[in-house]
Amino acid sequence: MAAIKSAIPTRRFDAVIVGAGGSGMRASLQLAEAGLNVAVLSKVFPTRSHTVAAQGGIGASLGNMSEDNWFWHMFDTVKGGDYLGDQDAIEFMCREAPKVVYELEHFGMPFDRNADGTIYQRPFGGHTANFGEKPVQRACAAADRTGHALLHTLYQRNVRARTHFFVEWMAIDLIRDAEGDVVGVVALEMETGEVMMLEAKQTIFATGGAGRIWAASTNAFINTGDGMGMAARAGLPLQDMEFWQFHPTGVAGAGVLITEGVRGEGGILVNSQGERFMERYAPTLKDLAPRDFVSRSMDQEIKEGRGCGPNKDHVMLDLRHIGADTIQKRLPSILEIAHKFANVDATKEPIPVVPTIHYQMGGIPTNIHGQVVTTKNGSNEIVNGLYAIGECACVSVHGANRLGTNSLLDLLVFGRAAGNHIVASNLKARSNKELPADAADVALERLSRIENSTGSERVQDVANAIRKTMQQHCGVFRTDELLQEGYKEIMELDERRKHVSFKDKSKVFNTARVEALELDNLIETAKATITSANARKESRGAHAHRDYEKRDDDNWMKHTLWYSEGNRLDYKPVVTKPLTVETFKPKARTF
Ligand code: FUM
Repeated sequence: MAAIKSAIPTRRFDAVIVGAGGSGMRASLQLAEAGLNVAVLSKVFPTRSHTVAAQGGIGASLGNMSEDNWFWHMFDTVKGGDYLGDQDAIEFMCREAPKVVYELEHFGMPFDRNADGTIYQRPFGGHTANFGEKPVQRACAAADRTGHALLHTLYQRNVRARTHFFVEWMAIDLIRDAEGDVVGVVALEMETGEVMMLEAKQTIFATGGAGRIWAASTNAFINTGDGMGMAARAGLPLQDMEFWQFHPTGVAGAGVLITEGVRGEGGILVNSQGERFMERYAPTLKDLAPRDFVSRSMDQEIKEGRGCGPNKDHVMLDLRHIGADTIQKRLPSILEIAHKFANVDATKEPIPVVPTIHYQMGGIPTNIHGQVVTTKNGSNEIVNGLYAIGECACVSVHGANRLGTNSLLDLLVFGRAAGNHIVASNLKARSNKELPADAADVALERLSRIENSTGSERVQDVANAIRKTMQQHCGVFRTDELLQEGYKEIMELDERRKHVSFKDKSKVFNTARVEALELDNLIETAKATITSANARKESRGAHAHRDYEKRDDDNWMKHTLWYSEGNRLDYKPVVTKPLTVETFKPKARTF
C-alpha cells in the first residue's frame, strides 16, 4: 500500500479539527484568532452540525433570575452524574461557565432577554439552589433554538477569523507515526470520492456522539460515532461507554426532541389517569429531576399499565396551562414539532412522549485541556498530537448521567480550553512532523475492502440490525440476560459488517461509500457500549441494571476503558479531588 501514498494529495495545517459543531467551531475560533492555520472538516455544512438541534439552553450560574453560584452548579453536576464524574473537571467547567456565556454574548449571540436587558435563564432538570433545596433558573436560552443561535454565531466569527472549512468531507482514519504521535488524518471528499491527507501539528476530534447506534434517537443521521471509530481503530481506549442518556421527552413514534425547557417553563408529565406522577417519584424537583430519574419513572408508569394511547406505550407532556403567549414566545419550535410529528396543537392538547436515546456520557478519554490520554500501569499518558472535545470526548464532567444544558456548556468550555492549550504551546513556531510512508494505509485498506468486497451483506441491513439489537438489549432498564444476548448479537454483526458490498458496482453513489465507512464506526461504538454495559454489575446513573439494583461504590466507583483490539476492558479511578474545594462525597440520590 505504501507506494500509493505519493499519489494522494496532501495539505498541511497547524491544526486540523474534525467536526464543525459547537466544540469544533469554538476551538477553531480560538486557534484562528491566534493566527494559526486551521482546517475544519465537516460531513455537513457547519451550521447543520448536530449542535443545531440543541434547544433548551446553556447552563451557567449567572444568577440573573435569583441567587446562584458555580459551587451549587458543581454540586448538582456531581450528584446528577451519580458520583462518577471527575470533580476536578467539573469544578473547572462550572467555574468557567459564566465566562464562556458572556463571551458568546459579546460575539453577538441572540439570547432571550429579561426586562432589565440581562440574559433570560430558565429552570432545567437537576439544577438547584443551595445544594438541592429547590429548582434554580440556570439555563441561558435563545427561545428553544439555543443550539441554532450558537452555531450561527460561531460560524460567523470563524468566517471573520479565516478558518478554512472543508465542507462535506469525512475523516476516515487517523495518521500515527512510528512513535505513536498523531500527525493528521486521511479524509474523503463526499461528492467526488477524492482522498486527501491532511497533515497537522495538532488534530482535534470534535465529531459528536454516536446516537445512531440506536433505533429511536433524537440524534441527527450524521451521528455515527466517527471519532470513536477512528480512535478505536488507532488503538486508543473509549471510556464509560455503558452510560447513555435517554431524554425523557422524545415525540412518541418519531423520536424528535421536545426540550426539557418545556418542563422548565412549567410543563408537566401525566399518565393515563391524568396523574402528575413525578410528584410521587421526586417530591422536591418533580418533573425537573435529572433525566435518568425521570426516564425510569416514565418507563415504570408504562410497565405498570398507566401508559397512554391504544398501546399504553407513552405518557403525555401537558403544557396547555402555560398559555399560548408564553408557548409562542419561549417555545416556538416545540409548537411546530408537536404539530408536524405528533399532529397536535400543543396550546390545546398534550404531546405524546417517550424516553428516547439522546446523549453518550462516555467517549475518548481526555484531560481538562482536551488532550487525549491513555492509561498505562495505572498512570495517564498523553497521546501527542491529538485532542478530543465535546460529545465524542470523556473528560469526564457528566459522570453516569448528564444534566440538561451541560452539553452546550461542555462544548464551549472544553473547545475553548483546547484552543487555549494549543495556542500556549507555541504551535506556530514548531514544524509539522514528517508523514510516515504508510500514512494512508489503514484508510486505503478500508476503502479497498468496501470497494472490492464480493460479500452478500447490505450496509443498511447490518446498520439496522445493530440499532434493533441496541434498542432491545441495552435500554432504560438492563438485565444480565438481555445484555449477554445483545453482546452475542453485536459480535455476530461485527462479522457480517466485514462482508458488506454493493450489488451493482456501476451504480454506487459516494453516499453509499460514506454509509459503509460509517458502519465501521457504528460497530466500534456498539461493541464498546454493550461490552462495557455487560461488565458493570451495579446500577449507576443511566446504567439501570435490574439484577444489581443498587449503586456499588466499593467495587464500581471507577471508569471503564474499552479497547477494540481483543474487545478488552480495563478500569481507572474516578478523580474525587476537585481543584480547590472539598470533595462531594457520594450520597443517596433523592430528588
Ligand atoms: O432538552 C433539551 O433542550 C436538551 C438539552 C440538552 O440535552 O442539554
